[in-house]
Amino acid sequence: MPHSAVPPAPGGTHDLVVVGGGVAGLAVAWRAARRGLRVAVADPSPGSGASHAAAGMLAPVSEVTYTEEPLLRLGLASLERWPAFAAELAADSGRDLAALDYRTDGTLEVAFDSDDLAALDELAGFIGALGLPAERLTGRECRRLEPMLAPAVRGGLLARGDAWVDPRRVTAALLAALERRGVAVVRARMTGLETSGGAVTGVRLAPGGAPGPAGSGSGRGTGREGGAVLRGDRVVLAAGAWSGTLDGLPPEVLPPVRPVKGQIMRLRSPEPVLSRCVRACVHGGRVYLVPRGDGELVLGATQEELGFDTRVTAGGLWELLRDARELVPGVAELEVADVTAGLRPGTPDNLPLVGPSALPGLVLATGHHRGGVLLAPLTADLLLGEDGGLAELAELCSPLRFQDHRFQDHRFQEQR
Ligand code: GLY
Repeated sequence: MPHSAVPPAPGGTHDLVVVGGGVAGLAVAWRAARRGLRVAVADPSPGSGASHAAAGMLAPVSEVTYTEEPLLRLGLASLERWPAFAAELAADSGRDLAALDYRTDGTLEVAFDSDDLAALDELAGFIGALGLPAERLTGRECRRLEPMLAPAVRGGLLARGDAWVDPRRVTAALLAALERRGVAVVRARMTGLETSGGAVTGVRLAPGGAPGPAGSGSGRGTGREGGAVLRGDRVVLAAGAWSGTLDGLPPEVLPPVRPVKGQIMRLRSPEPVLSRCVRACVHGGRVYLVPRGDGELVLGATQEELGFDTRVTAGGLWELLRDARELVPGVAELEVADVTAGLRPGTPDNLPLVGPSALPGLVLATGHHRGGVLLAPLTADLLLGEDGGLAELAELCSPLRFQDHRFQDHRFQEQR
C-alpha cells in the first residue's frame, strides 16, 4: 500500500526537484517526501553511478587521516544518523532491516610489518586522543576475530563503531520508498536550468526520458515527460562526478568536482569469508574487503584520476586481487561475481558540497568523494534543516567556500 502520496502541485510545481538519483540525491528526495514536500527526481538511470560501484563502508573512524578532522566530524555525525535512517528506510520501503545488509560489527585495520605496526600505533593514539573507540590487537587476536586472515598479519586496530551497508540495496529501497510516496522519478538527463528574476525555477530535460514512478522503468506514470520542464522552488544538484560538467549550468555555478575512478570486484563464496570489514595498506596502496550478508566479498578499490573513464582494466583488477590475497590468501579461490568501475565526485579539499549555491534556488548535494553512502543521511538533514544544531557542519560543507570569489567577477546571466 502506498503511503500518503503527495502529488505535484497544480501546474506541476514542486517544492524540490532533485537532479541525480544516486544515494545522496535519492536520500534527500526521500527525506523531503517524508516531510510532505512535493518532490521530483530526474536521472537517466537512477542508482547506476558511483552508488552502484560503492562498497558501502560507513567507516569514518578507520578511514580517518591526520589532515582530515573536518571530514571525520561530518562522517561521525552521519554515522550516528544511520541506525534511524536505515530503520525508517526499511519500514518506508516495505522491507525488513536485514534487506539493506546494514551491519555494525566494526572495521579491522591490520598491519604486516614493523612500519605498518608503528603507523597503526600512531593511528591508535590519534583516534584515542579524539576520544573515539579503537582497540589495538595482536596478530593472534586479529586471527581469532577473522580466522581467514594471513598468518603474516602482525597486529590490528579494531574500530568497533564503524559499520557498513549494501549501497545497491539502499538505492533500491530508496526508489521503492519514493514510489510508495508517489514521487516521480523522471528517467531523463538535465539539459538546462529554468530561471526567472535571477533565481532557478526548474530544470529542462532531454527529450525521450521515460516518465515513471520511482523504482520501475515502466508502469504508472505521473505525467512528467522527457523534453519537458520540471518546475521547483528549489533545485538540488546531486549528479555526483557529473555535477561539474552538467549541460546548462552557467560556468560560474559549476561546482569544482572531478571524477576519481574506483574499480571494485565482488567475489562469491559459499561460506562467509570475513565477519567484518578488513583494511590494510599493501604495497603502498590501500585495500579493503567488505563482506555481504549473502556471502559475497567486495574488494576495493583503485583510486585513479583519468577523467570520465569507467573501463574496468586488467591492471586494476590485478592490483586489487594481488593486495587482497596478501590479506586473505583464500580470496584467490573464490568465484568472480562482478567487476565494475565508478566515478567518485572528488573536490579540492575532499569535503562535500552541500547547501545553497550562490545562485538563488540552486542547492548542491555533491562532492562526497569517498563517503557518499556514509554521508547520505547527514546530507539530507543539512539540506532539509531537520536538525537545528548543524550550523558548524553546514559551514564545513558550504558550496560558497568555492563559489564566492567566482561570483564577484561573474554575475549570473539569466539563461534563455
Ligand atoms: N570509501 C571507499 C572508496 O571510495 O573506495
